[in-house]
Amino acid sequence: MSKKIIVSGVGCCLVDILYKDIDFASDPFLPFLSLKRGDGGLTPGHLVFNEEFVEFAGLPFETVITKITGGRKPDKKNIGGPSIVSLIHAAQLTDPEHCEIRFYGRCGNDDAGKYLLYSLQKTPVILYDFKHIENITPSTVVLSDSSYDNGHGERIFINSIGAARDFAPDDLDDDFFNSDIVVFGGTALVPSIHDNLTGLLRKVKRNGSITVVNTVFDFRNEKLNAGQRWPLGNSDESYQYTDLLIANNEEALRLSGESTAEAAIRFFRERKVPALIITNGSKNITVYSNGQFFEPLGLTEMPVSQKVTDELKHNKNGDTTGCGDNFVGGVIASIVNQIQKGIKQPDILEACCWGIVSGGFACFYMGGTYLEKKAGEKLNKIKTYYEAYIRQIKSR
Ligand SMILES: Nc1ncnc2c1ncn2[C@@H]1O[C@H](COP(=O)(O)OP(=O)(O)OP(=O)(O)O)[C@@H](O)[C@H]1O
Ligand SMILES: [Mg+2]
Repeated sequence: MSKKIIVSGVGCCLVDILYKDIDFASDPFLPFLSLKRGDGGLTPGHLVFNEEFVEFAGLPFETVITKITGGRKPDKKNIGGPSIVSLIHAAQLTDPEHCEIRFYGRCGNDDAGKYLLYSLQKTPVILYDFKHIENITPSTVVLSDSSYDNGHGERIFINSIGAARDFAPDDLDDDFFNSDIVVFGGTALVPSIHDNLTGLLRKVKRNGSITVVNTVFDFRNEKLNAGQRWPLGNSDESYQYTDLLIANNEEALRLSGESTAEAAIRFFRERKVPALIITNGSKNITVYSNGQFFEPLGLTEMPVSQKVTDELKHNKNGDTTGCGDNFVGGVIASIVNQIQKGIKQPDILEACCWGIVSGGFACFYMGGTYLEKKAGEKLNKIKTYYEAYIRQIKSR
């Protein structure tokens, strides 16, 4: 194929703001701890929405953060969010001459927004429609206490949907729907897009384009309808319009409302998801394709990268943030590269190989986004893991 492949993505794009060495048992912290489930207070290991937390605290967010951190600056800021992180990775693995990766989103007129724009401009993703608006920049403040639980450590997350709340289906232009591949990533944190996903996916499919949906933990629906399965758009029709659905194990269970992976897979098959990948941290991934977009493949498990597992025993420089997002980016890049070669029905196993080594490689650096000093840098590093992975699965 000589034509340039256009990939357009919409979904979660935020700033991860990390504060280390916060003592969850200290006097300034205690007033903000949750007293009972769902009250909007902070709970170690859990995420709370900014709006609910501010109501619980009875103080402006900045005031609370100043009290908790003693007014110091964050230890680290990072680009986060399953949409932008996966698109950045896909762009780092593909040739800009043959593929353009575009993002649609919003951020605020604040420091986090300035940071986001400045950092995104250092990546190969095209900010096709990305504006500053009068709202706060979507963010997740991560408070980390390494001495919590007898030194095991724990984190607390405070998420602000902010400007993502103002991004609506009408903001998506014709170019978006006419792209070759359209990716909806972590839209649960862009409420208006998520709630209208069925119509959006249907529209993309009517244009004959390929759709990919990668999910994120849906805190909003988890809270709205505790115990019920999460909706994916207005109806289950969304599933049949999703050429490829990628979820982690927990998300697959919550979307299907099932308690085992087998039952969840049955749920997705019954709703006619053409191809599915479920990741599960350091455990095997599960994948199938019904032959509609990818070549047909029965239910198959694939191991994670042994080279990554071996090296992780000695390398403690990174963390597992963004493994799933980079997995998705690797899969998208492989789809693009296969289509570019003229392959009519891409091979989902080949795409998963790139996903697995990309997700694994994300364990070697902090956060989900690796900012390259020069184009091709990350691809070069990941190729070694890809080659080792091919040897690993051939020797089984
Ligand atoms: N500890 C690990 N060792 C090797 N590979 C890993 C490890 N953790 C993750 N990976 C790779 O990354 C992929 C995605 O990881 P995971 O299932 O944890 O995604 P996730 O829960 O969506 O993560 P996140 O939301 O933090 O990005 C895995 O299928 C695997 O290939
Ligand atoms: Mg994930």
